Amino acid sequence: MNLLAIESSCDDTGAAVVTDGREVRSNVVASQVPEHILYGGVVPEIASRRHCENISGVCKKALADADISLNQIDAIAVTAAPGLIGALLVGVNFAKGLSYSHNIPLVPVHHLRGHVASNYISNPDLEPPFLALVVSGGHTHLVNVKDYTTYEVIGRTRDDAAGEAMDKAARMLGLPYPGGLNMDKACVNGDAKKYQFPFPRVDGSEFDFSFSGMKTAAINLVHNKQQKGEPLDIENIGASYIKSVVKVLCAKSEKAMERYTTQRFVLAGGVSANSVLRREMAALCKKHSVKLYMPELRYCGDNAAMIGAQGYYEYQKGHIADINLNAYATMDIDIDFAR
Ligand code: KG4
Ligand code: ZN
Repeated sequence: MNLLAIESSCDDTGAAVVTDGREVRSNVVASQVPEHILYGGVVPEIASRRHCENISGVCKKALADADISLNQIDAIAVTAAPGLIGALLVGVNFAKGLSYSHNIPLVPVHHLRGHVASNYISNPDLEPPFLALVVSGGHTHLVNVKDYTTYEVIGRTRDDAAGEAMDKAARMLGLPYPGGLNMDKACVNGDAKKYQFPFPRVDGSEFDFSFSGMKTAAINLVHNKQQKGEPLDIENIGASYIKSVVKVLCAKSEKAMERYTTQRFVLAGGVSANSVLRREMAALCKKHSVKLYMPELRYCGDNAAMIGAQGYYEYQKGHIADINLNAYATMDIDIDFAR
């Protein structure tokens, strides 16, 4: 079964052709980083406008790269939530137009389920059930993935997402957008023990996260240095900060592994590209004799191939939308789209 997948939830316009949920026949991404870099972050209106300009060409290229025509496409999968609403609407409306004009079933996909599904592409043997840590720019979730379309959230961030916390600290350190990625690169040789950031105390659920205290501590540290006229010590602050964020992610993941006996643990989302997180998670999973699955680096960030992978399983489950499909800026990962 061939799916054309479309992703436009943030600043990447993506289209891909995916066969049977696992085989990526093409994967095209038009990145807007060079433009948003000028503003230090994503400007939503610019993102929507660029999606409008790019989406048709990106879809055409995805079909051409896969050497397939639209009449060989069995379903169109599209990210319909969560994300920047103006950005999502471009992809959703384009997909609706194609679906309607060519009479092809339309499959709405939750963006974070897509991130989890990037692992099905990179790891052909992976099947639910498993536990997943989903770490992106806007979300930090610990999820019990019971089957391909049944999700139970067991922990979530109470404030900032891990990616957001990385991006803000990177910005304070004067590193360019996208901050998390550039901080990872710039601080790889830094002394991660040089600075201490507070480990968050979260009352209530032992699986919930909080990163705002850590972020504020980093901002204060940088301000303090600036006021004293001291050099910023970017490499060591960045390395210490990444280590602290990763420590929280690993500590909560470890609790979840202990509580929910599992044989498989999955990393997903843009932050899963982080070199320290990948290394520490590998050590943690080894300690607990749990098999760790991670997406290849090229599928960690936003892309349409992962939407095609998840879209296949949503389609199998009969999760097909009609022409009234809407886009939603927020939606929990355990909710199915209304039909
Ligand atoms: O999943 P994603 O591409 O977009 C969203 O759905 O939000 O995640 C983007 C986030 C950004 O915060 C970005 O800085 C972060 O992922 N990121 C990283 C790395 N690569 C991307 N954070 C830390 N280390 C990286 N290597
Ligand atoms: Zn994403």
